[in-house]
Amino acid sequence: MPYVVTENCIACKHMDCVEACPVDCFYEGRSMLVIHPVECIDCGICEPVCPVDAIKPGTEPGVEAWLELNRVYADKWPNITSKGTPPADASAMDGVPGKLARFFSAEPGEGS
Ligand code: SF4
Ligand code: F3S
Repeated sequence: MPYVVTENCIACKHMDCVEACPVDCFYEGRSMLVIHPVECIDCGICEPVCPVDAIKPGTEPGVEAWLELNRVYADKWPNITSKGTPPADASAMDGVPGKLARFFSAEPGEGS
């Protein structure tokens, strides 16, 4: 079961995770990153690296909808392999409720 990026990544997008991943399986949207579920080798290295605890094992209860969102957008968004500049208010956005409804963008990021 792959790891999965969940709601707290939205509008935080710190991108430390991309530097940690040995198989470069992160994909960039405008508001968050996702993990490609087939490319992920389940190593778990990225999970503790995220400053806002947004990465979870796919086996964790309650992440099913996020697994699906990661799967869908990993095929639409560009690959990202190096850390860019996080949003200026990334730290302030940690834990803000309702991020999916309020801040998610289906638009692709730039990739790198
Ligand atoms: Fe990459 Fe490992 Fe995280 Fe999967 S679990 S996204 S392979 S660092
Ligand atoms: Fe998002 Fe955390 Fe990576 S905020 S971009 S999952 S380091």
